[in-house]
Amino acid sequence: MTRILIVGHKGQLGSILYNYPSEHERLGMDLPEHDITNASETQYALREMRPELVINTAAFTNVDAAESNPDLAYRINAHAAGNLARACRDLGASLIHISTNEVFAGDRGGQPYDEWDGPDNFRGSVYARSKLAGEYAIRFYNAEIHIIRIAWLFSPGGVNFPAKIVNAADKLGALKVVDDEFGNPTYAPDLAEALYKLIDLKAPPGVYHLTNSGAASRYEMARETLRLTGRGHIPIEPIPHTAWQRAATPPLQALLANRAAAALGITLRPWQEALADWAEKV
Ligand SMILES: NC(=O)c1ccc[n+]([C@@H]2O[C@H](COP(=O)([O-])OP(=O)(O)OC[C@H]3O[C@@H](n4cnc5c(N)ncnc54)[C@H](OP(=O)(O)O)[C@@H]3O)[C@@H](O)[C@H]2O)c1
Repeated sequence: MTRILIVGHKGQLGSILYNYPSEHERLGMDLPEHDITNASETQYALREMRPELVINTAAFTNVDAAESNPDLAYRINAHAAGNLARACRDLGASLIHISTNEVFAGDRGGQPYDEWDGPDNFRGSVYARSKLAGEYAIRFYNAEIHIIRIAWLFSPGGVNFPAKIVNAADKLGALKVVDDEFGNPTYAPDLAEALYKLIDLKAPPGVYHLTNSGAASRYEMARETLRLTGRGHIPIEPIPHTAWQRAATPPLQALLANRAAAALGITLRPWQEALADWAEKV
């Protein structure tokens, strides 16, 4: 049994990890009780809690809002992540840090990125750059670190793309959805199962890409969401990303290949099966 601190335990992924059935002891840290941008208080809290493993799921995750809040996005996604890594080093704890496919520019024709590819999204959104800075920040410290890159996260009850599609369909009665942005949907319960397997296997430190199998365009995922939730009759029109006004510009084809965890026997089921499970639970 490992004493695990879930940072961001009230969030979409954090709450699944916190409540996931497992023998491990779980501790939580989230706003408003703990603000991880307060470095000294966070160090103190970790010394008090004495976790053996910290899983950092906390982040400034509103990609569009980050464009007008770069200072806060960097404080949470980069500086606080580095501070957690330093606290882990001082405690002798290991760190699992959740990162994103958006550290890649996604401009190489849809060829998936392997774990050993160098992140290259230096001109991307504030969110993407702040998460990339977070990966660099934690590597400065000599903690035992796992960087887990995921994409298009969704879970029952969370704020996520399929939930927004269902809400928009019910409100508007017809949808226009981008068909030239591609990603790997990642179902939080499947990701949690994979992470606990990595923990139990004592997987070596390093970078891991953990998403459900297969890729989709936003349009494909939206269409499948409508079908699986009994809304297949709702008209849905594919549009290019240039026709969808938003503050941030996400990479169009930052697809992730899972090689490192697959080598340990850990793969996630196809995203369509995961989405069907989600649809049954919402
Ligand atoms: N969502 C996606 O599609 C996606 C895709 C790729 C990667 N990721 C990464 O996956 C991880 C989990 O994402 P998620 O969707 O589960 O995020 P989430 O639902 O936004 O959860 C993040 C949690 O962290 C908390 N938090 C934010 N700032 C904090 C601070 N200063 N101190 C303490 N806690 C703080 C949030 O509290 P508040 O809600 O009160 O702010 C929230 O409870 C993140 O690292 C994210 O970058 C997400």
